[in-house]
Amino acid sequence: MLWRHSAPASADLTVQQLNLVRYAVLAPSSHNTQCWRFRLERDAIAILPDRLRRCPVVDPDDHHLSISLGCAAENLAQAARAHGFDGGIVSNAGADREADSIIRVATTRAPALRSALFEAIPARQSTRAEYDGRPLASSELDLLARVSAEAGVHLQLYTAVADTERILSAVVHANGLQIQDAAFRRELIHWIRFNRADALRMGDGLYSGASGNPSVPSWIGRLALDVLLTPGRDGDKYAAQIRSSAGIAVFSSDLNDRAHWIAVGRSFQRFALQATALDVRTAMLNQPVELIATRQSFATMLGLGARRPDLVVRFGRGPLLPRSLRRPTAAVIT
Ligand SMILES: Cc1cc2nc3c(=O)[nH]c(=O)nc-3n(C[C@H](O)[C@H](O)[C@H](O)COP(=O)(O)O)c2cc1C
Repeated sequence: MLWRHSAPASADLTVQQLNLVRYAVLAPSSHNTQCWRFRLERDAIAILPDRLRRCPVVDPDDHHLSISLGCAAENLAQAARAHGFDGGIVSNAGADREADSIIRVATTRAPALRSALFEAIPARQSTRAEYDGRPLASSELDLLARVSAEAGVHLQLYTAVADTERILSAVVHANGLQIQDAAFRRELIHWIRFNRADALRMGDGLYSGASGNPSVPSWIGRLALDVLLTPGRDGDKYAAQIRSSAGIAVFSSDLNDRAHWIAVGRSFQRFALQATALDVRTAMLNQPVELIATRQSFATMLGLGARRPDLVVRFGRGPLLPRSLRRPTAAVIT
């Protein structure tokens, strides 16, 4: 069972590092591609992109991929510190070459520090349910903002209905454009796992149960999607989801490069872990930032200036849903 805390059975460094990787892979990734590989080194664990798991249509510049690596790095750092390792993160991302996308998390010995964020790693999930509509206390909003502070990353929390309705319109508009695009639909369907057996066998992708949908044979799921995936139906679903949320967080970065996208991933992951610790759910609605055609107008609408909007995240209290699956740890070691 991946979603639990466990102490490694041995003091052997490799066994300990493998246990840390187990925590890292519980991080979110775009379409649950798990677009990462891990290399165990003497003093560190290196995180590398798995470019076979890119999503060229929805993520042509590897923006989401880099954010996903940042999320995994944050989990790894929190787990490393909890198990008596340094956990310092060094990233040489920035340029375009493969060698420049490596993140290293130090596994030299240090005093153990079990944070509330670490404790929340197994419980965190992307919860695509309707929430209960209740606001968060201002002390909770302050804590979420404080914990996710990261150099080069800007977080704006929107809780006023006028703001969340404007964001809803942008989500619905961008979603309508995406689902009418045949290439986008093909890529999305490639990553959907329509039933539990497929999800378990593949260990990746978007399990229908995790979005509150029934388990059906794949061929029925594909046929049904053609009928069900329409701008109108989706629009109603997103309206209900956003209107039942306590607010929406928008993450944006000062510079539009890999180093900043990784920093956004780390910042978001601390936000999501702190939310989990408060029993608050999170789910992303990134449609307006995924399309070049809508990204700029979305930034202008929110007054972000030259900053690129990176993530749109709703939050609130609500039920848990079945989990998205993961591949075994051994499958991601390189
Ligand atoms: C960069 C990034 C972008 C994402 N975009 C979306 C999105 O637009 N809509 C959505 O429902 N989930 C989105 N997700 C959430 C993933 O689908 C989710 O993390 C994955 O399925 C694993 O599930 P889990 O987070 O519950 O572990 C995104 C995650 C990441 C890291």
